[in-house]
Amino acid sequence: MKISSAEFVISNSDVAKCPKEKLPEYAFIGRSNVGKSSLINMLTNRKSLAKTSGRPGKTQLINHFIINKTWFLVDLPGYGYARVSKSAKKVFQKFITAYFSKRTQLVSAFVLVDCRHEPQKIDLEFMQWLGENQIPFSIIFTKADKLSKNKLPVQINNYIQTMLQYWEEMPNYFITSSSSGMGKDEVLNYIEDINNQ
Ligand code: GTP
Ligand code: MG
Repeated sequence: MKISSAEFVISNSDVAKCPKEKLPEYAFIGRSNVGKSSLINMLTNRKSLAKTSGRPGKTQLINHFIINKTWFLVDLPGYGYARVSKSAKKVFQKFITAYFSKRTQLVSAFVLVDCRHEPQKIDLEFMQWLGENQIPFSIIFTKADKLSKNKLPVQINNYIQTMLQYWEEMPNYFITSSSSGMGKDEVLNYIEDINNQ
């Protein structure tokens, strides 16, 4: 899919105030610092459409971006960041849960996990929760450039083996790098295929 336009629409912490348009929507979620905002910039060819930072906890609101004037990409705050205060965490959790439960425009979530890490409890639990709530999702393994060509498939395969202890099938997944552009066409074509259905 060619991206001809990508524009920021609105940030907020209240799902009721998200855009009213009935356009297909895709949301990026995962632990803080996993690379959600960077991936949105990579996919849309914009350097700083979504704000990124080396420090976890950068994205704190639900951010809507409209792509090609026909669908939304949503950047969300990360979960599981220890340095955010307990009360802030609770607020995040509340509106992230509300977002996923109430946002009827949501077509699919992308759960981002760092390809270097072993499966983390918080990610597995979050995917479990999405499954229980019938919210479709794909997994995106991020920062593929940080692993050697040999190590990458070994790590992914380990992750798949763990997933298969909990799931009958491995969910749909992508391997990406926001620095090299790896996985860009795959993710965009996947979205395009769904939008055209
Ligand atoms: P929060 O908004 O805090 O939840 O983080 P986030 O998931 O949006 O992460 P963000 O995109 O801000 O990236 C976090 C850090 O990881 C930044 O320093 C990025 O430059 C770096 N980063 C993100 N994606 C990649 C990648 O594919 N490769 C490499 N090498 N670094 C990346
Ligand atoms: Mg972010």
